Amino acid sequence: MITTSQVLTVLSLALLIDGGLGEVNICSNVVDNLFLPAIGNCSNYYLCVAGKAVPRSCSENYYFDARDQQCVDVSEVRCLPNCPAQGVSSFCYDRTCTKYVLCFSGEPVLRECADGLQYNAETDRCDFPQYVDCVDNLCVRQNNPDSIVYIASKSQCDKYYICVDGLPANQSCASGLQFNPACNCCDFPSRANCTVESLQRNIQPFARVPPRVADISCPAEGAHFFAHKTRKEAYYYCLNGRGVTLDCTPGLVYDAKLEECREPQFVKG
Ligand SMILES: *[C@@H]1O[C@H](CO)[C@@H](O)[C@H](O)[C@H]1NC(C)=O
Ligand SMILES: *[C@@H]1O[C@H](CO)[C@@H](O)[C@H](O)[C@H]1NC(C)=O
Ligand SMILES: *[C@@H]1O[C@H](CO)[C@@H](O)[C@H](O)[C@H]1NC(C)=O
Repeated sequence: MITTSQVLTVLSLALLIDGGLGEVNICSNVVDNLFLPAIGNCSNYYLCVAGKAVPRSCSENYYFDARDQQCVDVSEVRCLPNCPAQGVSSFCYDRTCTKYVLCFSGEPVLRECADGLQYNAETDRCDFPQYVDCVDNLCVRQNNPDSIVYIASKSQCDKYYICVDGLPANQSCASGLQFNPACNCCDFPSRANCTVESLQRNIQPFARVPPRVADISCPAEGAHFFAHKTRKEAYYYCLNGRGVTLDCTPGLVYDAKLEECREPQFVKG
């Protein structure tokens, strides 16, 4: 049975989603039976079943904890943060790796990174997976002890994860060996075929630089994303008449159709 408050939560989440992207399915790209937090109310959460979000609520005095994947006592909970009243920032939508909440003047909008890009909380934007290496979307709490889940690291060839109690635990191969997903084992580099490459960069997160006012006039109402007038790797976010300029991660460009940053080869026209 779904209670009125659950319906209201679903409605408010739907409004929030419609405010920005059109449609973000919170359960896309996560493993079945994963629990996800609800934005704005720590009592509520979702169970992802076959790509669909089933709303649930904790009993009184319990809040949902995405890390523990269960309702815990209010004093122990790690809840999704709320948007700060001022400025531009974002935070990870826990356990999804690809979704995030973009905050502008206290208003949250749910966003999703495209094409396997992952949300990087250190830079406040979608990034190449080798810089994020998030696998939280792949571990559920109900492990089958007879079949250990192994996940290759996206950032280092000699690293991998195993799921323990619903969370990824990082593991390292012995010196000189690399993780090979074909055997779920550490193997000779010639057989592991790992292709991770890393670069040095320096990116200032949105949250730590003063917001840059958009040099366009924004629609008086609603949340809108627009391509930058001159720069391919930047875009505008307008909310109720006010706008800011945001940057993609270096190497990505803004796709006006998808309203997100992508690798240039995926952007048509
Ligand atoms: C959060 O959700 C619960 C259960 O659906 C509801 O009882 C409670 O009033 C909500 N809290 C807020 C602050 O909206
Ligand atoms: C696992 O990650 C933690 C925190 O990043 C780090 O301190 C630790 O050395 C890592 N362990 C292995 C085996 O890589
Ligand atoms: C690894 O790479 C070699 C040479 O590029 C290729 O022949 C082989 O099939 C690859 N192995 C796997 C498991 O992909």
